[in-house]
Amino acid sequence: MMQKTNEEQSQQYRTVSLREILQAMPKVDLHRHLEGSLRLETLAEVAYEHGVDLPSYDIEELRPLVQMVEGDPYDFHLFLEKFKLLRRFYSSREAVERVAYEAVADAAADNVQYLELRFSPASLAMAQEFSLDEVTEWVIAAVNRAQRDHPITVGLIISILRDFGRQVAEEVTEIAIAYRNKGIVGLDLAGDEVHYPAKPFADLFCRAKEEGLGITVHAGEAMGPERVEEAINALEADRIGHGVRTIENSNVLQLVLRRGVTLEVCPTSNLQTGVVRGLGMHPLRDLYRLGVHVTLNTDDPSVSNTTLTDEYVVAVQSIGLTMTELKNIILNGIQAAFLPPRKKARLEKRMRQALGLAAPSRFRWRFWG
Ligand code: HPA
Ligand code: ZN
Repeated sequence: MMQKTNEEQSQQYRTVSLREILQAMPKVDLHRHLEGSLRLETLAEVAYEHGVDLPSYDIEELRPLVQMVEGDPYDFHLFLEKFKLLRRFYSSREAVERVAYEAVADAAADNVQYLELRFSPASLAMAQEFSLDEVTEWVIAAVNRAQRDHPITVGLIISILRDFGRQVAEEVTEIAIAYRNKGIVGLDLAGDEVHYPAKPFADLFCRAKEEGLGITVHAGEAMGPERVEEAINALEADRIGHGVRTIENSNVLQLVLRRGVTLEVCPTSNLQTGVVRGLGMHPLRDLYRLGVHVTLNTDDPSVSNTTLTDEYVVAVQSIGLTMTELKNIILNGIQAAFLPPRKKARLEKRMRQALGLAAPSRFRWRFWG
């Protein structure tokens, strides 16, 4: 037998890294903001071409203005500050469409097979006083194009920003309802949880729910578990954005369990907003083992300089989840997706196959007769 060269041997025995395994894993992301998913190259390029007034057009000079960087204190309001400059950037239809298209393409490249991408029409509209209708239509069209070009399914969620006030929130709710069945699957409440409680928006969320939209509310991130309770009881939330501080209150934890509410957990974001003091102290594993329906998501890939694969690596290496637990977390994501039952069943079947998991038990029992 011919002797193998060193290179052939090392190829044969090349170890596959954890990152490669997790990158190749088909994934689900339910909590990702369009406004936090902007490639810095695109930001610089489009801003330059369209003459957007930015302090610099150099990527490295722009980076600390729009991304959490080394030396930044881990702080919720500093994190939200990074979005303010970004709002100046949506100066044309092309800019909005390009960002939406690339956000989906980037998720697909990370092997995200089902994505719920949220956006704030008011944020996208403000630079040029576009109408909320037109920016919504641009996002839907660009996302549809991206879905045709890449192996990914996308649902769009509309975000209300608490800081923009009640009047804008009412208009944004009407947009979400008007575009239900045309790409919009849910309504979200985001922005500054510290200074703006959710209760004043409750009637809007109840109306959206009656109209068939999925409801998700950022809560229990910068503020405590009582805000999670408020989101569930007053806003009828199906899912909570973050919600990690649920762990601090047994009554709220029991409420989350009883109602089967899903938490959209985003570990790197939680570190950078100062919600947890270290990734090793993140309550994700405890919440999972207590039976809470947790999911694993990115929040804002470009602001946090992360990918969903990075979040999975963190979940294994820093938080201590096993591969089996990760796969169950992906299944939680499918269960909590704002998808009609048939589409959800099809996605689950496809993802179980790709993850090497057995079909759900009802299929197996039928098969065995
Ligand atoms: N919290 C509130 N609003 C946001 C966030 C967040 O983590 N990310 C983007 N908008
Ligand atoms: Zn968020």
